[in-house]
Amino acid sequence: MHILVTGGAGYIGSHATRMLLDLGYQVTVIDNLSTGYKDAVDKRATFYEEDIHHTENLTTILRKEQIDVVIHFAAFSLVGESMTKPLKYYENNVSGTASLLKSMVDAQVKNIVFSSTAAVYGDQKVMPITEEILPNPTNTYGATKLAMEEMMKWTSIAHNINYVSLRYFNVAGAHHSSEIGESHNPETHLIPIILQVPLKERDAISIFGTDYDTFDGTCIRDYIHIEDLIDAHIKAMIYLVNGGKSDVFNLGSGSGYSVRQIIEAAEFVTNQTIKTKEEAKRAGDPAKLIASSDKAKNILKWEVKHPKVEDIISSAWAFHQSHKGGFSQ
Ligand code: UFG
Repeated sequence: MHILVTGGAGYIGSHATRMLLDLGYQVTVIDNLSTGYKDAVDKRATFYEEDIHHTENLTTILRKEQIDVVIHFAAFSLVGESMTKPLKYYENNVSGTASLLKSMVDAQVKNIVFSSTAAVYGDQKVMPITEEILPNPTNTYGATKLAMEEMMKWTSIAHNINYVSLRYFNVAGAHHSSEIGESHNPETHLIPIILQVPLKERDAISIFGTDYDTFDGTCIRDYIHIEDLIDAHIKAMIYLVNGGKSDVFNLGSGSGYSVRQIIEAAEFVTNQTIKTKEEAKRAGDPAKLIASSDKAKNILKWEVKHPKVEDIISSAWAFHQSHKGGFSQ
């Protein structure tokens, strides 16, 4: 089976590429390298430096490589930036996906697994969050991902394309080889930022908000290991190829950890004291996000193999120690 990975030079796409190749699948990667790194792309994959907006080029690649399934990661994903530059997010995420789907229709590629986000849910009161809860995004990033899901739905009806949309909670950690991992510039995610302190790249970790309505006043999130996340994509892909119907699934570990608990776990993993400073809340942060992933477990037969945050942080720590400053190109 031949899979096209869009955004395969990014954090999540590079792990998908690596794990698909390790399982014996053929992989073609397209990435415009606007935020991804060529060094993160497995050399065994066929690589095209290409933008998803170039519909005709995409159609040519889909036909030439005889692609069976698309796994679509190419998108901008910074919540804060999405609020100050909403049109950049609509242009890249929504228009880019329209172009990709058009090329799939033209080349008659019938299956797509798509990277969505817990940000589609917004601020919810009932935990854990199931797929039944009505999405209500509180930021442009989540709104664009929801628009992309809707686009998949209507396109699937009109053009007989099957999709699985995977709504990720907080993805973290690195591949067990430590050869690839999370490398964003700028970095905004909690775990890699915490690890910058023991790496001596930062003096202290800022805790954004200490008076949330949670047991220790800091935000609670559901952290999922990157390898568990990719495993779900592979299961979703097999589900579609075997005739499974289009659907939406949450992906999380099902346990919540506060910001302070993550810092403590990082101290344990790195065996170092991590200096903290308390700062104002970050705009738009919900107090608590915990997933119910029962649907993915039941239908995709997916299971979480790395539920412990210490294991997630430990894999990230191994990557960052061997890739100080991240990827260079
Ligand atoms: N945080 C800090 N200090 C930091 C960075 C983060 O205290 O330096 C806190 C945040 O305020 C938040 C928690 O750590 O409470 C996690 O923050 P991240 O930025 O790591 O992750 P988010 O929960 O904000 O975002 C994640 C994904 C988004 C997705 C969102 C869904 O990264 O892509 O979940 O809600 F949209």
